[in-house]
Amino acid sequence: MTSYAIIGASRGIGLEYVRQLAAKPGSTVFAVVRNAAKSIHLQAATKTLKNVHVLEADVVDYPSLQKAAKEIGEVTGGKLDCLIHNAARMDAEYITKGFDHYASMDELDADFITSYKINALGVIHSISAFLPLLRAGPTKKIVVVSTAGADPKFVRAAGIADMTAYGMTKAAALIATTKWAIKLQNEGFIVVSVSPGLVDTTGTIGEHGDPATQALVLGAAEAMTQRGIPVRAETPEESVSAQVKLLDGLQPSDNGSFMVHSGGEFNLDQLSIGK
Ligand SMILES: NC(=O)c1ccc[n+]([C@@H]2O[C@H](COP(=O)([O-])OP(=O)(O)OC[C@H]3O[C@@H](n4cnc5c(N)ncnc54)[C@H](OP(=O)(O)O)[C@@H]3O)[C@@H](O)[C@H]2O)c1
Repeated sequence: MTSYAIIGASRGIGLEYVRQLAAKPGSTVFAVVRNAAKSIHLQAATKTLKNVHVLEADVVDYPSLQKAAKEIGEVTGGKLDCLIHNAARMDAEYITKGFDHYASMDELDADFITSYKINALGVIHSISAFLPLLRAGPTKKIVVVSTAGADPKFVRAAGIADMTAYGMTKAAALIATTKWAIKLQNEGFIVVSVSPGLVDTTGTIGEHGDPATQALVLGAAEAMTQRGIPVRAETPEESVSAQVKLLDGLQPSDNGSFMVHSGGEFNLDQLSIGK
């Protein structure tokens, strides 16, 4: 049995991880969500699956993660093979904001602090809470879903002045993940950040998807392509299938890397997203 915990599993990329990992023979999947009753896409996808356990936790609420870890341990005998930390603050009206899109500096501060708690501290919280289970398992893999937008070279090349709180807090998460990798190296862990590409996850926003946000995603792909970075918005199935392949193939030498879902280290000079 291989056990996986996915943090932020209600929709989008996290939900697709649940689907694909649950389809692997002998797998047990722990889907960690903020609100199970409201996770309608997860419910629909997993209601007949016996190897998926849905647990509740919020990455800003450390005791809730510890409780989820305890519940996982009760099912697995105190072990976990792989942790996939996917949760992030992604709502369109927040994620697009630039420095000058706030009514006041107090408003900017409050918004950035909220993002920091979810996107940066959230990574530290989930790795800390699940570490005892991961240490007890033989596999010891941690994947943190990152973004090209955390890389300064990419941000310059793509000309992304806005998405400020998101980019800054995901950059902090990238450093946090790198530090965990160094800290856990001698224990045989493989800890990586993975850029998932540009992924059209708008189909699982709300009950019936969000065409307005989808237009933003497709527009972003076009704008980047015009700037010389060939980008295609991938489906969650495409992106996660590549990420699962990457997860399966992780080697000790990958520890600490910032990788692209299609394989190898994130390297702007070789980057063509979704081609
Ligand atoms: N889509 C892309 O093009 C893209 C590109 C680069 C990187 N990424 C990265 O990929 C990951 C997933 O993105 P997505 O497009 O799939 O986003 P999404 O569909 O909006 O999903 C975000 C997930 O995070 C969860 N979440 C948010 N705040 C949380 C919290 N405080 N505690 C626990 N869970 C929380 C959400 O749960 P609720 O349902 O409870 O809100 C949801 O399950 C993110 O880390 C993002 O930075 C995405």
